[in-house]
Order: sequence, then C-alpha cells, then structure tokens
Amino acid sequence: MTTSSDLIAQLERLGGQFAAAIAPLVDEQSIRAAQAQFLGKKGQVSEVMKELGRLPPAERPLVGQAANKVKDTIAQAVEERLQALITAKRQADLARTLDVTLPARPVGGGHLHLLTQVRLELVEIFAELGFSVAEGPQVETDWHTFEALAIPKDHPARDMQDTFYIADEIVLRTHTSPVQIRTMQAHPPPIRIVAPGVVYRRDDDATHSPMFTQIEGLVVDEGVRVSDLKGVLLHFVNRFYARLGGGLDVRLRPSYFPFVEPGVEIDMSCGFCRGSGCRLCKGTGWIEIGGAGMVDPDVFAHVGIDSERYTGFAFGMGIERMAMLRHGVNDIKFYYEGDLRFLDQF
Ligand code: DAH
Repeated sequence: MTTSSDLIAQLERLGGQFAAAIAPLVDEQSIRAAQAQFLGKKGQVSEVMKELGRLPPAERPLVGQAANKVKDTIAQAVEERLQALITAKRQADLARTLDVTLPARPVGGGHLHLLTQVRLELVEIFAELGFSVAEGPQVETDWHTFEALAIPKDHPARDMQDTFYIADEIVLRTHTSPVQIRTMQAHPPPIRIVAPGVVYRRDDDATHSPMFTQIEGLVVDEGVRVSDLKGVLLHFVNRFYARLGGGLDVRLRPSYFPFVEPGVEIDMSCGFCRGSGCRLCKGTGWIEIGGAGMVDPDVFAHVGIDSERYTGFAFGMGIERMAMLRHGVNDIKFYYEGDLRFLDQF
C-alpha cells in the first residue's frame, strides 16, 4: 500500500535525478527534451501523481506541495544549466577573439619614382658645383619657347620639335630652354642654374614619349668658356655614372642649336663596353647624352644682357634617357605605367 511519505520521497528523488540527467547535456534542445520527459503528461512526475488518488484525501495536499516543489526545482535546474551553457559559449567566443594588440602586418613602404630619384640626384650633383634650381611654366609663350631663343616663326628649327599649340602664341614647352630666358630676365649675371622639368612633344615610340623630362643648365658670367662647360659635364657624367667605374670622358661634337654658338652634341665615352663597341653605343664607343653650347649673343640681346661683357654656356639633357642608360630600362613607357613590378626595382 502506497503511503504519502513514499510518494513525497519519490518526488524528492526525481529532483536529484533530473539535475544529474541534464548535467552532461550541452544544448538547449536536449535539456528541454529532458524537462518534458520529467514534467510532461507521460513524465515521471505525472506517473507519481497518478498514485495520488489512492491516498486518503487528507494526505493529498502534502504530496501536491512536494510535487510543486519538485517542478520548481526542475525549472530552476533547467535555467541554471542553460545559463551555464551561455556563459561557457561566451567564454569560448572570447578565447577565440582577435588579439587587437598584435602588431599589424607591415604594409610595404612606398618610395620615390625612379625619375624623381634621378631628378633629385641630378640637382644634388649640380648643387655641388654651385648651381641652384630654377623653374618655369609648362604652358609657355611662343616667345619664351622659340623667339627669344633665336628660333623665329619661319625658322626650320621649329620643325625639329613637333609642338602642341594651346593658342597662336601659347605652347606646351617643347624643351626646358625657355627657363634660360625667364632666369636671365629675372636676374643679372652671374647666373648658375639648372632647370629640371616636364616638356611636351608629339613624339611617341620606345625611346620617346609625348611628355618627358629634361634638365637644362645655364651659366652666365664674365669669362665663361667652352672648357668650363666641358669641366662641368665631366664632373656630371663621372658622378652620375659612378657605378661604371669612373674615368668617363666627354666629347663635344659640333652640332646646331639656334640659341648657342658654337652648338654641340654632348657624347660621353661608353662606360658599358669601355669603347670596344656595344648595343648601347651602337659600336661607336660614344653615347650621346644631350645638347649644349655657348649662349648666342642674339639670345643675350633678347634679355638685355651685354654680350660684350658676359659669356655663358647652356646644356639640355633628357632625364628619362639618363636613367634608361644607367638602369637598363628599354622602353620609356615603363616610367609612366605605374606598374609596381617595374617601380619596385628601383
Ligand atoms: N633644348 C634642346 C632640345 O630640347 C636641347 C639643348 C641643346 C639645350 C643645346 C641647350 C643647348 O641648352 O645649349 O633639343
């Protein structure tokens, strides 16, 4: 015969059994299933309660209270277990989280473009000889670009430079030589400047680009001679092409530029083959690197400098070409494409 104390004892055991049953469960679904198993219609608590009818009515409330208590115990055990799972998951998440104090992966540092490096180096080399830097506009007047440099409108030398005209008297400068004019207009001699800068022509092939860079030089003073020009150029080639081992010679080959008299092409001895003949010097042992000459008295007249008192020399060279020779760049386009595989080599 079932007694009320039997049923109460059974109910109390169920509380403990439930806690043990859900301890190993790790997801809400299986915990809820266990809860239903204990509390549902066919659950263990209900099974015990079915016995209730056999008890004398006076004892039933006691068992009822015990049943309510075990239901609370089970509900509480479910809550605690779920809470514990949430805490454990949060801790696992935290353990997995990025350590934001780790140093970042290094981003490769940029560097100056080869042409910029070379331009700065050229300025430095000429600065050693007392030259300072002068600049002029890229959109220039016809007068500064041609007329004042003794290239009048009908002069055949204009045909050598396929010019971009902006208006009748305004051009994209085809060379840095107009900076000579602007400098001489702005300062009385002595003058000793280099003018690096961008110039524009309609040329376009492996060694020519519609936009490229030159460096112009101008020295005006009393008693300036061709030998001064040659000395400056000798210093320049041996500094700039120092990695070729030094001892490079310079040859001034008669040529014609309207704004100099005499005018010359500057050749340097080929340091790549040391004169035995190679692709770069086309077998001649000499490499052309620019133009130069003694400032023509006509030019001095245009800017109001007394050519009886002063003489001067000027030179102009292509920066792309210098860097091509020194670094073995074989297409001028590489400079302007922005391809890191090229740029990162320098
Ligand atoms: N301006 C000439 C050119 O672009 C280069 C040049 C030749 C510059 C002789 C000079 C010079 O200063 O004296 O073709």
